[in-house]
Amino acid sequence: MQIVILNDAATVAAYGANIFATQLQNKPTSVLGLATGSTPVALYQQLIAKNTAGEISFSHVTTFNLDEYLGLAGDHPQSYRYFMNEQLFSHIDINKENTFVPPGDAVNPITACKEYEDRITAAGGVDIQLLGIGRNGHIGFNEPSSGLCSRTRVKTLTKATVDDNARFFAGDEYQPHLSITMGIGTILEAKKVVLLATGENKADAVYAMVEGPLMAKCPASALQLHKDAVIVIDKAAASKLEDLEFYQHIEAENQKLQAQLATL
Ligand code: F6R
Repeated sequence: MQIVILNDAATVAAYGANIFATQLQNKPTSVLGLATGSTPVALYQQLIAKNTAGEISFSHVTTFNLDEYLGLAGDHPQSYRYFMNEQLFSHIDINKENTFVPPGDAVNPITACKEYEDRITAAGGVDIQLLGIGRNGHIGFNEPSSGLCSRTRVKTLTKATVDDNARFFAGDEYQPHLSITMGIGTILEAKKVVLLATGENKADAVYAMVEGPLMAKCPASALQLHKDAVIVIDKAAASKLEDLEFYQHIEAENQKLQAQLATL
């Protein structure tokens, strides 16, 4: 794991956006894995700005989102499909036919999960996967106790996740308790993963992910097994890490090395 600790949420978003921009510049046909929630919004705004400025293009890109509420069609304002259109797809030069979100209105969700996996495989696999992390350590909607090799499937949300996401739903609005999510095994197959976390309320989950044991109780700890996982966090989210100074030292050395390599 590469642990990058930055001052604040804005710097985290900028750092993450630069990783995605570099990916698109190096491989315009990239397959991107995308996430919803509050954390990636600022990164998406940066990508929109870079696209508008002509620095990057999404015209040959394919995207796969991590998850969707089961029971919400894509035109529902709380669906993740709707979120992605609003926060990113409608503002960039992407062909929406190449954007995939698990179908929350699938007649047969079990078949739909298998089809989603097959589609990812047919696209050549995910090149770079964006992740957030839940306060309980979930990635996608892989809640604690999820199998570390799990595939795209229907998952029941924990009360903690339902409560955390209640802020997006009006008081009397139906809030799903089920989801379709890529599995942890699916996520681990992405060639690169970039997880963003900001704020003190993520500090326990970040600690468990980085310094805790590999365990189903913290699904994000499975990223310890990934060969190219970049964890980009602000100081508040990093505040419970025991080896904080070591990670900062490694990253400073890393930056020096990158600067040296750039002069070759
Ligand atoms: C959403 C997703 C979730 C969120 C997580 C953090 O697609 O994959 O795992 O990343 O719940 O959400 P925020 O960013 O709202 O704190």
